Amino acid sequence: MQLKRLYIRGLRCLHEVDIQLSPGVNVFVGDNGAGKTSVLEAAFLLSHGRSFRSGHKDALTRRGDSRMELFAEVQARKDEAGHSKVGLGREGGRWEARVDGVDASLGDLVLHCPVVCFSPGSHALVSGAAEERRRFLDWGLFHVEHAFLPDWRRYQRALKQRNALLRSAHRHDDRLYQPWEHELAISGEAINHYRRTYVESLRQPLAAVVAALLPELGAVSLSYQQGWPEQQSLLEQLASARERDVVRGHTRHGIHRSDLGIAFEHAPGKEYFSRGQEKLVALSLYLAQCGQFKQVKDEWPVFCLDDLASELDDRHQQALWALLAEHDQQILVTGTHPPGGAGWPQTRMFHVEHGAVMSMEPLN
Ligand SMILES: Nc1ncnc2c1ncn2[C@@H]1O[C@H](COP(=O)(O)OP(=O)(O)OP(=O)(O)O)[C@@H](O)[C@H]1O
Ligand SMILES: [Mg+2]
Repeated sequence: MQLKRLYIRGLRCLHEVDIQLSPGVNVFVGDNGAGKTSVLEAAFLLSHGRSFRSGHKDALTRRGDSRMELFAEVQARKDEAGHSKVGLGREGGRWEARVDGVDASLGDLVLHCPVVCFSPGSHALVSGAAEERRRFLDWGLFHVEHAFLPDWRRYQRALKQRNALLRSAHRHDDRLYQPWEHELAISGEAINHYRRTYVESLRQPLAAVVAALLPELGAVSLSYQQGWPEQQSLLEQLASARERDVVRGHTRHGIHRSDLGIAFEHAPGKEYFSRGQEKLVALSLYLAQCGQFKQVKDEWPVFCLDDLASELDDRHQQALWALLAEHDQQILVTGTHPPGGAGWPQTRMFHVEHGAVMSMEPLN
C-alpha cells in the first residue's frame, strides 16, 4: 500500500502542506521543532484515528486555527491503477472521517489506510503497560480479521454495562449479571481465539526479523496471556469472580486484561533489555506485523521511521536498511540529517522548515 499524496492543514506547526510522495523512500530532513514528526503523525492519524504522541488532542490543531484537516490518496496495491481518497478533520473537539467523498466511521477510514510507525516512544510497546501490546495485536487483527471489530465492540459494550452494574445499587442481584456475562463470554472467547491465532502468525515473521536485526539476543519466543486462568472458560471465571469484582468495582478478568510476552534466549524477559534493545524489540515487532500483513494482503503497510538516526546505532540502522531492501514498501523517514536509506532508488527528499515542507528533487 502507498500514500500517493498527503495533504495536511492546521496540524501542530504545519499550516498547509501538500506532498506528492514517492512509492519508495521519502526522507524528511530539518531542524528540531521544524515539523518532521508532525508529517508522520498525519499519516498515523489517518491510519489509527489517534496520535502516537501522548497529550491532549486539542494540541493537534495548530494554535490559532479552529480546524485541522488531513487528506490522502491511497493506492491499496502497487499494481492497481485506482486509488481511494481518505480524509480526517477535527473541529470543536469532534472528528469527521470521509472515504471517497462520503462520511465514514473512523473504523472505515482506518481500514483504508494501514500505516505502521516506529517512533522515539515505541519502546513503550515493550516496556509500557499491557494496553500498548493489546493495541498492537488489535490493530493487526483489525486489518486481517473482519469479524474482529464487531466482536470487539460487543465486548466493550458488555464490559461497560457489567462494570456499571458492579457499582450500582443492584450489585448483589446475580440475575442481572447473566446477559452481560453471556455477551462478554461469547465476544471475549472469540477475540481470544483471534488473538491467539494472530500471535501464532507473528512467530515466523518475527523470527526472521530478529535473526537479521537482533541476532545477539538469540532465538525469540512469543507468549499470550489471555487475562483469566487458562483452565477456565471466561463465563465460569466471570461468575466465580463476581463477589470480589463487586468489592473492587470493576471486572478483573477478560480480554481487556490480556498481554503479549516476548522473550529471547539471552534475555528471558523485558527486565533484561537495555533501552536501545527495547527499541529494537519494538521495531522487530512492528516489522513482524508488517510481514504478517504482507502474507495476508500481499502488500506491506506504509512504514514510518521517526528520528531513526537518534534511535538506533549505525550497525542496527544498517541491518534495518538491509532488511527493508528485501521488500518493496513505501517508507517515510525523518531525521535532522539524511539517514542511511537516503541513497536508495526511488528516494524523495523533503526539507522541513518552520512548518513548511519542500521537495528537494523530482521523483525518479
Ligand atoms: N498546536 C500547535 N500549534 C502550533 N505549533 C505547535 C503545536 N503543537 C506543537 N507545535 C510546534 O510544532 C512543532 C512540532 O514539530 P515536530 O515535533 O513535528 O518537530 P520535529 O521536526 O519532529 O522536531 P524534532 O527534530 O525535535 O523531533 C514544534 O515546533 C512545536 O513547538
Ligand atoms: Mg521529531
